[in-house]
Amino acid sequence: MHAQIEEEIFYPALRAVIKDTDLLAEAEVEHASAKDLIAQIRAMDEPGEMFDAKVTVLGEYIDHHVKEERNEIFPKARSARKLDLVAMREQLMQRREELMGETAEA
Ligand SMILES: [Fe+2]
Repeated sequence: MHAQIEEEIFYPALRAVIKDTDLLAEAEVEHASAKDLIAQIRAMDEPGEMFDAKVTVLGEYIDHHVKEERNEIFPKARSARKLDLVAMREQLMQRREELMGETAEA
């Protein structure tokens, strides 16, 4: 859900107003890697060394991703004058609610 709302709303809006978008591309790759690892963990039948390794690596990916968002992407968003972060916050929360509803129905 984190990845989906960022990729649908936050990253495209930021991409439109900043020049250096490498970080956003990297963040999308990180989202994809985390999703892939989550799918692998979900598909595993029993715990074991590989299960533990995947969970550990997923934690490391997420730590890295959160740090990069906090330290590099969010400051860029805050300093981009053309971006209305208050309005975007509403949009993100609304989309999150929608997705949570869909997950609950599934
Ligand atoms: Fe993210």
